[in-house]
Amino acid sequence: MDCLGLQPGREVNSMWRQFYRSVSNPESFLGDVSIRRLMGLAAPGETGAEGLSGVRVQIELWRDEQARVYRELASQAAELGNQREFAEALLVHSAPLASVLGCWLQGMSAPGVFEDSAQLRLMELLAHDVGVGRPLASRADHFKSLLVQAGLTAYAVSPFELSTLPDLPDELFELPALLQAVSRRSDAFGDTLCGIDYAWRALGLSPWWAVLDAQQLDVRRLDLNQLNESAGDSSALEISQWVCEQVANQGNIRRLQLEAGAQWLFAALKTFNERLLVHCRAAVSPERLMGKMIQRMARAGAVYHQDYKMEGRSLAQWLREAQVNPVPLLEMLSRSRLIVPGNAEKSLLVNTLVAPNGRMFRIFSEADLSVIRKWIDGLSGPIQRAETAQVPAPSPCNTVVPQALGEGIQEQGQWPKSLREAYFVLQGRALAPRTQAFAQAYVTRWLEQSRRSLQNSERTLPESWNVGVLREWLLDKHDRHGQEFEESDPAAMPSREEIVDSTLQLAPLTLIDGAWLQGFTDLTLASSHVGYALFQTYWDELGNGSYALNHPKIYRDGLRQMGLELAPTGAREFAEDERLREASFRLPVYWLCLGKLPVTFMPEILGMNLAMELSGVGGSYRSARRFLRHYGFSTAFVDLHNTIDNVTTGHSAWAVDAIDAYMRQVAATKPAELAEHWQRVRVGYESLAPQPDRLTSWLQRLGIGSAGAVLPRSKTQGEDQALFHHEPIVPAAPVGVTA
Ligand SMILES: [Fe+2]
Ligand SMILES: [Fe+2]
Repeated sequence: MDCLGLQPGREVNSMWRQFYRSVSNPESFLGDVSIRRLMGLAAPGETGAEGLSGVRVQIELWRDEQARVYRELASQAAELGNQREFAEALLVHSAPLASVLGCWLQGMSAPGVFEDSAQLRLMELLAHDVGVGRPLASRADHFKSLLVQAGLTAYAVSPFELSTLPDLPDELFELPALLQAVSRRSDAFGDTLCGIDYAWRALGLSPWWAVLDAQQLDVRRLDLNQLNESAGDSSALEISQWVCEQVANQGNIRRLQLEAGAQWLFAALKTFNERLLVHCRAAVSPERLMGKMIQRMARAGAVYHQDYKMEGRSLAQWLREAQVNPVPLLEMLSRSRLIVPGNAEKSLLVNTLVAPNGRMFRIFSEADLSVIRKWIDGLSGPIQRAETAQVPAPSPCNTVVPQALGEGIQEQGQWPKSLREAYFVLQGRALAPRTQAFAQAYVTRWLEQSRRSLQNSERTLPESWNVGVLREWLLDKHDRHGQEFEESDPAAMPSREEIVDSTLQLAPLTLIDGAWLQGFTDLTLASSHVGYALFQTYWDELGNGSYALNHPKIYRDGLRQMGLELAPTGAREFAEDERLREASFRLPVYWLCLGKLPVTFMPEILGMNLAMELSGVGGSYRSARRFLRHYGFSTAFVDLHNTIDNVTTGHSAWAVDAIDAYMRQVAATKPAELAEHWQRVRVGYESLAPQPDRLTSWLQRLGIGSAGAVLPRSKTQGEDQALFHHEPIVPAAPVGVTA
């Protein structure tokens, strides 16, 4: 069984679709050598010297030329009365590509580059692609709604289901699978991905979809250069170009990588287009439609026609051969007595034989009969050999795919040897197998402790979940926070030194604000009912594309005001800064691990997210404001969080909505597991500050994090040692995002 529960090798013609399924998993990892080979990616500098603007001109010319090709095909279809067949073939065969629109940016954002303005602009593009703020509002979801409008409901399904539909040719999954695959390795292909993005934005609306507006289908959302009104004056292409300029300024090699990415996508789009055109032409041509239908039915038909002779051979024999090439059978039929060329009404094949008392009653569907009738009506006599064209066989599967599916991963990654090392290694996105195993183990241990802690905790979520319970619980909690603040002694004040030290020790945590939600930038998760609010929260943490609103940046400003200058979070120097205590990396490493495993630990992340978003609202953020003002420090960070995390329309309310959406799905699909999943959410909630972490300190009241992040925990230090010495140390995998 493959990792998604299907039997490998038993699916017919399925290499690309298997690969597509595999890389649709946000936790998947592929070796960069395999990806490069699968893509056939040219080395930087091998692709010519046109520069990005040259590629853009070529793409625009090609797009306009192909738009004319599709328009001509559409008018041919109209002349033959095949408009519906044409639109259907186009929609169905482009569905796999539409299912990944925007995916190439899904793996770019990472804690180590949270404060990078180029990354913030890329996130802005991704936010539009996923349709931030609403579930099922991505470009891919819009395409599904077009399928529904066109009556193609059988194809308006999840990517996984799409890849299991047998009538979609395997080769059409190649480009979507490669885009997904390369998106999972932004550490190795960051610049290439920027170039790919540039090429997509330059393409704007693909020529194959542009022609659909004649079918009253609204295709504007499929235009990758189009942003919604909130985006201001910039087009997506302008944003993408600005990002590419920032990358190109870093040196010649990086500029060449951008160009290689853009060139690769252009070439891949041309190949995709040729394949799509074959299917669209087949839908327009009565001969090709007929040929396709015969091919589809030939095998079953061959069982029944052993004794029926045509031109000296059994029809069964003709049908067996037609499975590979239907042309000779079509030619023979056009000469036979079953057909009157140019006159379907008088042709036995579609009158007497298929009548209720005919020998072939109900063999053909109405749609099949319509195909046959149009074919016969279009014939001027028996077919000459040149008139028919065979539907081409799919291209052979690439032998590199099985390797990329897991056999050939050379990079095993490293098992970090300390908390500081782990903090550094986890700043990126992709995790090679050994590092991923470390992340799993770290989270598992943390959750074991949280589970024990939950038994004695006073601040738990309700014991059972039910509709509406959580929102009520949230308001109660908020009331209590407010009450505690009112009852607190305004004179009780930590010292200036304590404030400065705590702000410093919280830096490894707060400078990666939102890191636990990193995995929810995955296209499918970010546009799902459960994940859309989490993506929106993450998007807010990073400042919605605006550096001034970036939470880590605001925190860093506060540190600076205290005279504390720290290295960039993604630099090794940050993790090794001696002013930061080892224990200050404990909770941040937990967050970093969670962010890499959004599927494995989804309920726990949902619970942890609520605990974090709620932690200071109404109470401790207000106390912190009092302390900070007292010493003349900026209150911007706590003020911002007391509003943006609010319990009615803010992050803590969204955190509850995400949990409710998740639990509703469990209730609907796996009711027997409801209690188990709820318990996992509760453990996740507890995991922000499991005992014995929760020490009474002013920091807890401050609520910018948990005391556990700051104070050493002698009781479990032995466990840490065991964890960090579990595996031998191997050379590091590449870390960090490159743009
Ligand atoms: Fe925040
Ligand atoms: Fe927040």
